[in-house]
Amino acid sequence: MANKQVGILISGRGSNMSALIAAASAADFPADIRLVVSNRPHAGGLAKAAEAGIATAVVDHKDYPSREAFDKAVTAKLEEAGVEFVCLAGFMRLLTPWFVERWRDRLINIHPSLLPSFKGLDTHERALEAGVKVHGCSVHFVRSDVDSGPIIAQAAVAVLDEDDADSLATRVLEQEHVIYPLALRLVASGRVRVIDERVEIGGAGDAPPALVVPAV
Ligand code: GAR
Repeated sequence: MANKQVGILISGRGSNMSALIAAASAADFPADIRLVVSNRPHAGGLAKAAEAGIATAVVDHKDYPSREAFDKAVTAKLEEAGVEFVCLAGFMRLLTPWFVERWRDRLINIHPSLLPSFKGLDTHERALEAGVKVHGCSVHFVRSDVDSGPIIAQAAVAVLDEDDADSLATRVLEQEHVIYPLALRLVASGRVRVIDERVEIGGAGDAPPALVVPAV
């Protein structure tokens, strides 16, 4: 089966983007990263992508009169590059229903919580405030409601008494870098099916979609 062609959308430093690029450089990875698009001209991830030899583009949301005009410009860039699947990696713009439908089941996101808990921003602060004992991250297909959609992979980390938002974010981010490439591998290899808005993973494989990281 031919490799799937992937575009990554970023807004910032792009550490998840780098994890995807690194994974995709392995000979047996079933996807190629074709293009990185940022909505912010100064996103740190742009230089990292260029260093890794990946084509980049800026589509600055400030240049467009509406969200839909912006989403159409991003889609045009992705399609010009032959992109088939889109990964959101710290992309901090709300996408229109038009975009979400255009890329339905070909658009995945990473979110720093165990969804459906803690949708939205400041997830680590809110997890600490709520006193949860496990926290983590999720990769999911994107639907129109923010941070919702069929879950592909999750990793859980223990919350420690001494954690603050930064220490917790650091441990969760390490796991983001593990499960995002894992989820893309599953999706690009055609093993993921969405049935009744839940993900089923078919075929034999080495990649469990749920990881639990023991307390250190
Ligand atoms: C990551 O923690 C990602 O999960 C989060 O932003 C960070 C981006 O970091 N995404 C969201 O909160 C989306 N709702 P990165 O640019 O280093 O990948």
